[in-house]
Amino acid sequence: MEADKIIEGMMKVINTKDGGKVLMRPLRGEDTDILGEFFVGLSKKTEYYFHPHPLDRENAVKTTEKIGNGDGAYFIQTVAEGEREKVVGYVWISDKNDPPEVGICVRDGWQDKGLGTQLMEHIIEAGRRLGKKKLALVVMKDNPRAVHVYEKMGFVIEGERKGYHYMVLEVN
Ligand SMILES: CC(C)(COP(=O)(O)OP(=O)(O)OC[C@H]1O[C@@H](n2cnc3c(N)ncnc32)[C@H](O)[C@@H]1OP(=O)(O)O)[C@@H](O)C(=O)NCCC(=O)NCCS
Repeated sequence: MEADKIIEGMMKVINTKDGGKVLMRPLRGEDTDILGEFFVGLSKKTEYYFHPHPLDRENAVKTTEKIGNGDGAYFIQTVAEGEREKVVGYVWISDKNDPPEVGICVRDGWQDKGLGTQLMEHIIEAGRRLGKKKLALVVMKDNPRAVHVYEKMGFVIEGERKGYHYMVLEVN
């Protein structure tokens, strides 16, 4: 509950590198459908790199059910599609591990436009507001784009797991 209160105002309109406008906002309990559509619409390649959980409707239900329980922090990036919002980016901090782990995914066709960088900046700021001293993540070694974004944010490789780097950021 506490975490949701702290991040509830963290909403802003951001620019893509090609001049588009995207809304970045906390995930809400009623976002199950648009989050599920985002998950199931991702390509095999994006799914391969994204390893924290299966990308299906069931996980959209599980994730949106957590909102309001004070378990971690979740944000999405959306664009308007008719009357509805379409999710183009997703990021979270999970409190299950210590240090808390970050996960991120940007929709195919929206990658390489600066959205992932801005999602990471946003989640680091959320971590700071939530009093986290460190954030961690696990990334496949054969994902140089993601490693580049994380190193740009100040994450450093602190360990290796088979095929993966374990990276940590000191939050100050
Ligand atoms: C990884 C991911 C989150 C990054 O988000 P994004 O919106 O594509 O990233 P951005 O556009 O903000 O930044 C990409 C950066 O990587 C650089 N880049 C692109 N391809 C690269 C490559 N092959 N090697 C190194 N750097 C690369 C770009 O030049 C850009 O750098 P810059 O901003 O310093 O110029 C996104 O691509 C994604 O969701 N990929 C699929 C799933 C995934 O990998 N999730 C992460 C799991 S750990």
